[in-house]
Formats: sequence, structure tokens, C-alpha cells
Amino acid sequence: MSETAFQQCINPSCAATYAIDEARVACTKCGGLLDIRYDWSKLALPKKLDFFEHRWSTKGTGASGRNDFSGVWRFRELMPFYRSEEEIVTVGEGRTVLQTADLLAKQLNMKPGRLQLQYEGLNPSGSFKDNGMTAAFTHARMVGAKKVACASTGNTSASLALFAAFAEVQGIVFIGSGKIAFGKLSQALDYGALTLQIQGDFDDCLRRIRQIAVDVPAMGIYLMNSVNPFRLEGQKSIMYRILEARDWQPPDWVIVPGGNLGNCSAFGKAFMEMKELGLIKKIPRLAVINASGANTLNVLFSQRGAKWNSGNWDQEIAQKHYASLDESNYRPHTVASAIEIGRPVNLAKALRALDVMNGVVREIPDDDILEHRALVARYGFGCEPASAASVAGLHKLLDEQVISKDEDVVCILTGHELKDANATVKYHTGIDMKAAQDLAPREEPKGKLVNRPVPVDDDLESIIKAMGGDPKVLSGVNIKAHKSNVPVREF
Ligand code: F0G
Repeated sequence: MSETAFQQCINPSCAATYAIDEARVACTKCGGLLDIRYDWSKLALPKKLDFFEHRWSTKGTGASGRNDFSGVWRFRELMPFYRSEEEIVTVGEGRTVLQTADLLAKQLNMKPGRLQLQYEGLNPSGSFKDNGMTAAFTHARMVGAKKVACASTGNTSASLALFAAFAEVQGIVFIGSGKIAFGKLSQALDYGALTLQIQGDFDDCLRRIRQIAVDVPAMGIYLMNSVNPFRLEGQKSIMYRILEARDWQPPDWVIVPGGNLGNCSAFGKAFMEMKELGLIKKIPRLAVINASGANTLNVLFSQRGAKWNSGNWDQEIAQKHYASLDESNYRPHTVASAIEIGRPVNLAKALRALDVMNGVVREIPDDDILEHRALVARYGFGCEPASAASVAGLHKLLDEQVISKDEDVVCILTGHELKDANATVKYHTGIDMKAAQDLAPREEPKGKLVNRPVPVDDDLESIIKAMGGDPKVLSGVNIKAHKSNVPVREF
């Protein structure tokens, strides 16, 4: 392939390649996940990472000024899949803060200066997702997509809705029944996305939107979930910013909550590439933290021994686990609703990241997540419950002496505290605002821009109709029947 950027299946025994201007979410040959790859030898690359610093002072208007302003695109030489700088879709994302958290460190018996928190909640839509959306929307523009969609536990939908409004394309989000924190729902509705509340949970929603995006091309849907490899290109920048804030010295550990496992996968790719390019010498270790009520990665990696194994990972371990979940009718459940995911789609890439970054995985019960969320907020800006899993995970790893109090640790705080104010108020008062709302009489909304969530059964025909499509698009489409057993709980 003569292009400097292309897509490639991560499965080394397949390694099929695809052109950069195709919209795909899986390898057609083997079903594997796709990576964005570059022929670095044909690209102009900085010799040292401190090259990127000069962009802090750029204020110019026009495309390159806008791109310098973005905390994602100021590293654009490390994600050069776009065709022109004018085409980049940016809302000024990624201007986030790495804060040294000495007071919190003291509570955890760490030495001053050792613990830092990366506040990704400071992004325009309030979560780290904006880092990925700017890249995926840039690709969507490259391929001329007019309708973009995702399944979401909330933050992806908020970010998609914001970017869709900005880029003037139709945004469609699938959310599970009663599964989304109100802060996130409020954003999707306010930014004008068509919000379908599917009878089911996140895993059901993702299965449906993938079917429609892949098997029903007549619907013209561009998929924005993290199976879209362009999302992860943008999310690499979280690692670049941490290095930049630390004067290009890698920490000893990066700790991140794991849900669909896109973020940790992006981190692994960032370090894999920087090492390959000779831009860094040391790769930090990675800790991915699950909630105990959604612990697939921890079970597979820590207990069942699923390892990357140069790409030949034992897929049967995952298949057996999923079959047993089905048999017992298991549904993930955690107060950290953002990471309430039973079948993480980026599992293979996460195993690769754990290999590249010599990683560990742990799980944390809900009560500990909530205590650590409150602890983070007590000493600085807060975060939503899922984000605090990283700090709770650090605490556990310090207790286990896997991490020592002399090591440099960065915890990623993935989402803003106000995303889930209910969790905070409930922690401090015992009042569940969501439940209280259910008991109150409902008023018909009267505003001029009302955009209500649409409850939909978990079947394809109803979903297509709710998306404004003609059910005829399904004729000849062969999709396995699957119906969720999650009860409907309307907003
Ligand atoms: N933290 C927050 C606040 C999240 O919203 C998510 C994912 C994660 C952590 C986990 O990241 O999926 O890359 O492992 N939220 C997705 C969503 C699934 O739909 O908003 P991951």
C-alpha cells in the first residue's frame, strides 16, 4: 500500500490491511480489531518530544492555530491519518490538567510529589471521550459520513452529541434502560442527539448499533464506539500530555478504570509507537481497574490467564467465560455506571497494552469506589464514580505492595464530578434523586427545543423505525435474533 497511513487487523496471523478512507469497525477477513498504522519512514517526525512544546504559545486563527490549541492535535505528527489540517474537527478538546495531589497522597501514605491526577473531566463535554471523538469525527468527515451513532453508558453519547451538533451531522445515541447518569443524559438531549433508550443494557445497545452500522449499510451509520480505531488514535494524546506535563519523564505507573477497554488500549499503542520511534526510553507500567460488578478483564487476565502472547491469545478463555455469563443470565451491575460493561469489545487490544506496559488488573467493590470518589473530591476537584476506581485501585496496589510509596503514579480521572451528581448527593445524604424523581408526578415538557428520549424495544425493526429508517432496509439482511431480558425503565 503506497499510503503513509492505513488500517490493519491486529491479529498477526491475519494482518489484513485496509485503506485509510474506509469506515470499518472490524477486519472483514477474520473479524479482528483494527489498528491505524503508519509508514513512519515516509513521514516527517520530530526527533524529540519537546518539539511539541512550542505549540503552547501559538494563538493564530485558521486551521493550524486551531489544531495547535487542541490538546489532541498539537501532537498531530503522532496521529497523521488526516488528509489536510482544514479537515480536522476540533472543539478545543484535550486542554486538561495534571495535578500533583499531595494531600490525597498523604491519605494513602505516599510521599509528597509522587501522586498525580490527570483531570480528563476538564474536556468540553466533561470526559476523556472528547480526545477520541475529535479524531473519529475527523475521519467521519474524511469519508463523508452524515449520520453518526454510538451505544453508551453516557459519556460517549454526551461527547458524540456535542461533536455532532458542532460538525452539523445527525447524532444518534443508544442508551440502556435506566442505566445512565442524568448529567450525561442531559447533555445528549440538550445537544440535540436522537436518543434511543433501548430495552437492554450497554452490551445489548452496542450489539444492536454494530449490527445496524455493519449489516444494514442502507442506514448509512458511521459508528463512533471505541471499536472504531480512529477514536483510539485521539485517546493516545492523554499519554502525550502526561509526559509533557512531567517534562517528558514517564511516571512509573499509569492507572486507569477499565470498561470497554478503549482507553487502556490507546495508552498501550501510544507507548508502543513512541518506543518504536525512539522518542522514549522507559515505558510506565499500567494498572487497569474494573468494578467488581463488571470484572470481565480481571477474571480473564488475573484469574484465567488470558495473555496477549504475541497476538495468539487464547480466545477460548473469553468464549467460555461469556458462555457461563449467558448460562447464569448474569448482568454487570455497579454504581460506577460508566464502566458497567460485561463484554468489553477492546479485550484483545487491552491484552496487548498490558503486555507492552507490563500491566496488572484489579477489581474494586462499589463501596470502595464511592469512598475513594469522596476522598478525591475532599482534596481537590472531584470526579465521577468510575474515575475513582483508579484511585481505589492505587490504594489496593499500595496495600499489596505491588506499587511502592516511592514510585511516581498518575491516576486518570476520566469524567467530571457533575456527570453523576446523584451519586455524590446519595453518598452524603442517603437520598437517591433518581428514585425520588420516579415517585414524583411527571409534567409534560413544554420547551420549544424539547428532545425526549425515545423508549424502544430491543428488536431491529422497532429500532430502525425509531431511527427514522424504513424497515424495508432489513429485507435480505441476515442477523441472528437476540432479545434482551432487561426490563424497560423509562426516563
Ligand atoms: N471512565 C468513564 C468516566 C467512562 O465513561 C468510561 C467509558 C470509562 C472510564 C472506561 O473507558 O471504555 O475506554 O475502558 N465509558 C463508555 C461510554 C463506555 O459509553 O461512555 P473504556
